[in-house]
Amino acid sequence: MESVIVAIDGPSGTGKSSTSKAVAAKLGLSYLDTGAQYRAITWWMLRNGVDVADPAAIAAAAGKPGIVSGTDPAAPTITVDGTDVAAPIRTQEVTSKVSAVSAVPEVRHVITELQRSIARAAREGIVVEGRDIGTTVLPDADLKVFLTASPEARAARRSGELKGKEASDLAATRQALVARDAADSGRKTSPLAKAGDAVEVDTTDLSLQQVVECVVTLVEEKRAGR
Ligand code: DC
Repeated sequence: MESVIVAIDGPSGTGKSSTSKAVAAKLGLSYLDTGAQYRAITWWMLRNGVDVADPAAIAAAAGKPGIVSGTDPAAPTITVDGTDVAAPIRTQEVTSKVSAVSAVPEVRHVITELQRSIARAAREGIVVEGRDIGTTVLPDADLKVFLTASPEARAARRSGELKGKEASDLAATRQALVARDAADSGRKTSPLAKAGDAVEVDTTDLSLQQVVECVVTLVEEKRAGR
């Protein structure tokens, strides 16, 4: 079967990661979580004493960390200079700083090039999830999906994910999530945005299985040339 590139964008808590992994597994494609890469570079900056309030300092360090993403949807991995950072990139500290770091154009340039090279290397094809995949990273993707959901539904999902890991209450989660989306949508360089040719799927009242089935059907329709 021909290689297929699927871009899945949208704000946090819309089910992007769960959907993208399941779609990739079902279709035998690779999977790339681009948010994890922005988190990894943020983790490295914090670890190495880079002032993340200073865009010039961030820009100067952008090319230093060696980020490697494993693209098996059943077991995606992320390392920085050989260190497994899958857990530490999910801490509140990284989450609260990642929008500032990912807004710096030099960071976006380095990570975008990395993403393109990973997509090129995926022989069967790949599902790439993020914020600017359909608009900037892979504008020629075969299928572009933009996931949305109400802020309430997104906060409830994020709280569920965080449960047991870090204390979280729904109102605080909702507030942090809305603030991060506003920062991601408002930045100058490749903001979170729906591509003109993306299919929008509102996941508020859909189960994960329903969203996965919807995206798989869209891929199959594309492959059939419909
Ligand atoms: O999907 P996530 O919550 O793990 O993403 C973390 C942050 O990374 C998000 O707040 C914005 C940034 N990001 C981005 O700027 N571009 C992407 N393609 C993916 C994520």
